[in-house]
Amino acid sequence: MEVVITDHPELVVADAVAEAVTGGATTLGLATGSSPLPTYRELIRRHRDEGLSFAGVTAVLLDEYVGLPADHPESYTRFIHDNFTGHIDIGDVHLPDTMAADPRAAARDYDELIGRVGPVDVQILGIGSNGHIGFNEPSSSLTSRTRLKTLAHKTRMDNARFFDSLDDVPRHAITQGLGTITDARRLVLVATGEGKAAAIAAAVEGPLSASCPASILQWHAHATVVVDRAAAIKL
Ligand code: GLP
Repeated sequence: MEVVITDHPELVVADAVAEAVTGGATTLGLATGSSPLPTYRELIRRHRDEGLSFAGVTAVLLDEYVGLPADHPESYTRFIHDNFTGHIDIGDVHLPDTMAADPRAAARDYDELIGRVGPVDVQILGIGSNGHIGFNEPSSSLTSRTRLKTLAHKTRMDNARFFDSLDDVPRHAITQGLGTITDARRLVLVATGEGKAAAIAAAVEGPLSASCPASILQWHAHATVVVDRAAAIKL
């Protein structure tokens, strides 16, 4: 695992994506949350000012809340469109169908779809303060596939800042599993700020363990963790 400590994580992650796309990558794995936002802004800038093209690239998202319609302001469908994919020339953008009558079947269908359009060339990841990636909460099987997950209380508290109240934060999501995520050819995890320092230390220097789902990156053949100085203070 490569660890990059930098004042500009967004440039390192954008370089990895741009290099892959100009080198012929056809599938990008996208994460939501605040951590990759500066990267998405940088990639939109390169698309606009430098002609970086995503034509012919398909995107697959990591996860989506269950029970939020796609046009809800906090749905990940809306988030990724408004903050990234709506501003570039990318092809299809796939998410799990979390409004399906049978979300478990929708999760299986999404896993199959990823298998068809994949393997993902570069998967961008954030990290939860409890070490989750996607919505794979601590104790998730390290070989798990895309499935319905109950969100940890800590995760709902962390994400409550985006909703009117804690009660409005969904309790379930469909997330790519750790096995699904690690099928990607390259993983790039980005984290900034002191609030992520403990999770980053556990992911990078702790044991490979379901207690810290992000530690699965230690097992992957091509994983990069990109952090600012604040997120690196416990390393
Ligand atoms: C969310 C998402 C993750 C994200 C993480 C951290 O719950 N499911 O994909 O990486 O939490 O979010 P943020 O980057 O806003 O701290």
